[in-house]
Amino acid sequence: MSQSPSFHTRTTPMPLDEARFRHTMSQLVTGVTVVTARVPRGRAVGITASSVTSLSLDPPMLLVCVGRDAEIHDVLREAERFGVNVLAAGQVELARRFAERERQHLEEGELVVSPGGAPMIPGSLARIECRRRAHLDGGDHTIITGTLEWSEVDEGRPLCYFAGRFAELNG
Ligand SMILES: Cc1cc2nc3c(=O)[nH]c(=O)nc-3n(C[C@H](O)[C@H](O)[C@H](O)COP(=O)(O)O)c2cc1C
Repeated sequence: MSQSPSFHTRTTPMPLDEARFRHTMSQLVTGVTVVTARVPRGRAVGITASSVTSLSLDPPMLLVCVGRDAEIHDVLREAERFGVNVLAAGQVELARRFAERERQHLEEGELVVSPGGAPMIPGSLARIECRRRAHLDGGDHTIITGTLEWSEVDEGRPLCYFAGRFAELNG
């Protein structure tokens, strides 16, 4: 069966360079989270991440992809428990902050602790505590899977990310 002309006009030349990859994938609208964990016997840290995906229903699991070069990559990879904080529409500043290496530490006064001991960000749309299950090779990222052990959802609207910009849902 022959391919339609529109298929050809939308096919990108290979190899897919980094700029084209970023531009193409930026068309996928996502929510925005801050993934949090604690340095062993130390401070709480977090990183802005849009790569959080629901993975399994039974057992309940999710995954997040963390860049190998990220300052807190090793903390997240090794943490027994980590938190996923789904950001609300008004939390753009938090998303910007936890995307900056120098601003990824949480003070004790600005976090709450989940029943299992993961640091959580109050005011987020949803807070999820995970027990880390596995870390897998994902190219220049590590795929971290976790089993959901606790979650809490508030009323509100989500913060979204599309085409390299923060956005809110209309309507
Ligand atoms: C909206 C948004 C989503 C992001 N999603 C991810 C992600 O899923 N995984 C990741 O490793 N970094 C993600 N980043 C980048 C990190 O937040 C961070 O900026 C990057 O790792 C650089 O931090 P570092 O200096 O600690 O390495 C995202 C950044 C933004 C602004």
